[in-house]
Amino acid sequence: MNTRTTASQSSGPLAGRNALVTGASRGIGAACALRLAEAGADVAVLGRSLPDLDKVSAQIRALGRRALVVGCDVTVPEQIEAACTRVENDLGPVDVLVNNAGGPRFQAAIMDVRPEGWQKVFDLNLTSTLLFCQRLGRGMAERRTGTIVNVSSIAVHAPWPAIAPYGAAKSGIRHLTQALAAELGPSGVRVTSVSPAWIDTDINTAYTRDPELSDAALDLVPLDRWGEPDDVAHAVVFLASPLSGFITGIDLPIDGGFSVSMPRSTRRILNRAAPAT
Ligand SMILES: NC(=O)c1ccc[n+]([C@@H]2O[C@H](COP(=O)([O-])OP(=O)(O)OC[C@H]3O[C@@H](n4cnc5c(N)ncnc54)[C@H](OP(=O)(O)O)[C@@H]3O)[C@@H](O)[C@H]2O)c1
Repeated sequence: MNTRTTASQSSGPLAGRNALVTGASRGIGAACALRLAEAGADVAVLGRSLPDLDKVSAQIRALGRRALVVGCDVTVPEQIEAACTRVENDLGPVDVLVNNAGGPRFQAAIMDVRPEGWQKVFDLNLTSTLLFCQRLGRGMAERRTGTIVNVSSIAVHAPWPAIAPYGAAKSGIRHLTQALAAELGPSGVRVTSVSPAWIDTDINTAYTRDPELSDAALDLVPLDRWGEPDDVAHAVVFLASPLSGFITGIDLPIDGGFSVSMPRSTRRILNRAAPAT
């Protein structure tokens, strides 16, 4: 059914809006889907793992919002096209697009990266983001309303060893976001990105399960804790909603201060060395 929810049926800054979140089966994407629903949106959740998507959609319905589960491998352009058509038919026009699906896929030194591996990382992170933006951004521009939030990475701000293809793809997302914001701004469509780091999801279990590695990671984080998926989701809701109505083209780091600080050990030394006044 393609009827639009009205603001009277839900409340919150996204009442009456339809959202689409890619990679919504777990981690940051699942949190975004739930927080967008909490903010009043009906939400289409996309990914490959249908049982996990079903669990997220049940939580969205428990919040009183409509949820649509759509199986989609975002590395396959035909599946992106089919998924967007299904969402438009079954939920309605998409007002909020969150391009979240992604990940590093593998670790390798730049000298050892094979072209196929490079391409896979770009397909998953950057090309999928481009295709969703193109497919759904057109309708947003025609309707002169809509917001797109792309999930980049702090790897853009601070190059990470052994995942250069990922950092390059996420840097592409950041540039795409800025360029698209400039192109779609006159049509009333806002485009932003978030750059998470040190969020406690499956991507980081190698760190979070090992106390020594976890402590080494937190050495770099002034807030001295792992981020929660909700830390990203709340920022995504803000950027997706009219609460940020005069913001476009920005990239918002969500990293506990990592990108603007020094390691804890250095901070301690400098604090100790600070002369009294
Ligand atoms: N966690 C962090 O600290 C951190 C830092 C920087 C950036 N990020 C970015 O945040 C985003 C979410 O990551 P996360 O930490 O939440 O990781 P995660 O828990 O591993 O979740 C990744 C999500 O992407 C989906 N996905 C992966 N490949 C897909 C494909 N081919 N087609 C469709 N969906 C696919 C997965 O769903 P299925 O397996 O069901 O398909 C899953 O829902 C990613 O773009 C990641 O690069 C995370």
